[in-house]
Amino acid sequence: MASTRICMAALGSLGSGCRPGRYYKSAGVAARPGPRQEGNARGSLMRPRPCRLAAPTPRHEGARPGRRAMARPELRTVSVTAALSLLLLLLLLSVAAMDVASAATAPLKFGINYGQIANNLPHPTQVSGLLRSLNVNRVKLYDADPAVLTAFAGTGVEFIVSNEDLRNLSDARSARAWVAQHVQPFLPATRITCIIVGNEVLSGQDTAAMQSLLPAMQAVYQAVQGLGLAEQVNVSTAHSVNVLATSYPPSSGAFREDLGQYIQPILNFHAEVGSPFLINAYPFFAYKASPGSVSLPYVLFEPNPGVVDPNTNLTYDNMLYAQIDAVYAAMKAMGHTDITVRISETGWPSKGDADEVGATVANAAAYNGNLMKRIAMGQGTPLKPDVPVDVFVFALFNEDMKPGPTSERNYGLFYPNGTPVYNLGFNRASFSPTPTDSSASSSKPAAAIAFLMAVVVLLAGFFL
Ligand SMILES: *[C@@H]1O[C@H](CO)[C@@H](O)[C@H](O)[C@H]1NC(C)=O
Ligand SMILES: *[C@@H]1O[C@H](CO)[C@@H](O)[C@H](O)[C@H]1NC(C)=O
Ligand SMILES: *[C@@H]1O[C@H](CO)[C@@H](O)[C@H](O)[C@H]1NC(C)=O
Repeated sequence: MASTRICMAALGSLGSGCRPGRYYKSAGVAARPGPRQEGNARGSLMRPRPCRLAAPTPRHEGARPGRRAMARPELRTVSVTAALSLLLLLLLLSVAAMDVASAATAPLKFGINYGQIANNLPHPTQVSGLLRSLNVNRVKLYDADPAVLTAFAGTGVEFIVSNEDLRNLSDARSARAWVAQHVQPFLPATRITCIIVGNEVLSGQDTAAMQSLLPAMQAVYQAVQGLGLAEQVNVSTAHSVNVLATSYPPSSGAFREDLGQYIQPILNFHAEVGSPFLINAYPFFAYKASPGSVSLPYVLFEPNPGVVDPNTNLTYDNMLYAQIDAVYAAMKAMGHTDITVRISETGWPSKGDADEVGATVANAAAYNGNLMKRIAMGQGTPLKPDVPVDVFVFALFNEDMKPGPTSERNYGLFYPNGTPVYNLGFNRASFSPTPTDSSASSSKPAAAIAFLMAVVVLLAGFFL
């Protein structure tokens, strides 16, 4: 981080977003007792229904008082009009119900980082309930915690898992053993779609790790392929935006020259296996470093005039999108226009030390809330308007055991007890562990349609 060259352009549009290295250990999580199942309400459904042998009610005769009164023509006209109005009303209501049902069931398009450097986090089963109540269905882990992967079996939630032990993974046999032991057994019940090999290795200081990064990625890919999982599981690594030497204007984006020897073959690898290039980007760090020259609305996705890239005439109204396009430009300069960029981490802390300017609840709520709105719109960057920005927000929980400045422990959307740190428009959060019944939610629109059909048939039969 200290070695980053910060290039401040007009309006301070460079992102130097780097965070101190993460020290992830899933210590103690599996040791915590699981939540007990609350009273099993299903039991009541198992009681045999009493068999009614009483005389069946007559089907057709006299069962509906009033029906005969419609015999008179004028009454019939009135009734048909009323019925049609009623039908229309019900139709509208049903459509509205379907809208609500699908809005409630369409998963939110952003993912979330589930870090666990804390001693007070809820059990993964409870977290599964929380995420389902939020309708978030993509999660990134900093390990491959079997307790988490097991807790989410059958939920349909998509997982990115990580392994930072590059020395181990660059050995083909160890890589295969790890994938066979930590990924394969959870498929397909838990949808693991990507393995991240190493986190922010190239922006660190460990040259040995930098050298083993690509060999480890290749070994893991070969393991995935050898086990027949290559269609379901991508292999990638996550970089800090500090691998860029230049990020403004975005069209001038370029990787650090000293990292070219690592990045060029890694880009070739991505192109060959079809996996995304992942970056961790924190406009917060650019703002914190120079609050005087970086525009706060520009980093928070608030209304602002934006900045124009003089080479492309594209206007950028936020720093994150400028950073993404800078990565596209840097890849293009290395001969690659065939790799997708995704944001593996971004976020904003709700609290910081006295010298961490901008780390406030209001700014965190604005950053994450505005970002989620744009994601929901399926917005792309100015350079790639048709490629929706793909983001994993950092992070699900505040993590009390993270070292570093106060901000490091305050990136969470939630406190460990499940209370939101700020309002993002979610109000259905809860910790009630929900049964893993993925058909229940997806059947709501179908149920609404069935209901509508039944009403139409019933009324048609009744009046016509
Ligand atoms: C790599 O890690 C696995 C556990 O995932 C272990 O069984 C193996 O011995 C390790 N290999 C090396 C070379 O450290
Ligand atoms: C792997 O990454 C590519 C490129 O981003 C993407 O198109 C594909 O859907 C990913 N595969 C999985 C299983 O997520
Ligand atoms: C950008 O706009 C200027 C002024 O309108 C124009 O001269 C220039 O050709 C444009 N450049 C590109 C790349 O479109």
